[in-house]
Amino acid sequence: MHLTVLDHPLVDHKISVLRNKKTPSPVFRQLVGELVALLSYEATRTIRTEEREIETPVAATTGRMLTKPRPLVVPILRAGLGMLEGMTQLIPTAEVGFLGMARNEETLDIVTYAERLPEDLTGRQVYVLDPMLATGGTLIEAIKFLRKRGADHITCLCIIGAPEGIAALEAGVEGMDNVDLFLCAQDEKLNEKSYIVPGLGDAGDRLYGLAE
Ligand code: URA
Repeated sequence: MHLTVLDHPLVDHKISVLRNKKTPSPVFRQLVGELVALLSYEATRTIRTEEREIETPVAATTGRMLTKPRPLVVPILRAGLGMLEGMTQLIPTAEVGFLGMARNEETLDIVTYAERLPEDLTGRQVYVLDPMLATGGTLIEAIKFLRKRGADHITCLCIIGAPEGIAALEAGVEGMDNVDLFLCAQDEKLNEKSYIVPGLGDAGDRLYGLAE
């Protein structure tokens, strides 16, 4: 697995406002969108393109355009939805699929409770959106799910990652080619409730206004 953590003063600034518990949901959502735009710019450096003949008003030339099948963007419900708009603004022609995953609090297993994806993902480049990489359990299950359907190249985009989650993900995808992880920030640790420290709290609640 290849890990990239963004290193940019604008990212640092936006993340700091995002972390602040006083930042209200509308501003939080706006900042997530802005961070995803910066993150996806880096994460799509290896998106597949092919040569195409085009005519400008002045001359014929050869350009490069996205190949088919189209890239697939998969937000993990619920918090991943907050990252979707930022991503589709950058790749408006991407197809969007959905995965709903949650932890069963008794067994601690990850359960897939919703799924809306093409049956066959053979040869597809997939971008998975999940803002908080905490224990890594959800992302590992999502990657396995997408691989079983034939996804060829899987890029995970998270706003914040904990070292424990990154290590778990690395171990969970060991031996799999073409799995990449892009983060805006890597934090210190997880606390006893598996929240990222310092983190930003519950991303889903902060996005959708259920905090406080
Ligand atoms: N999910 C969140 O929303 N926040 C965390 O800190 C960890 C997991």
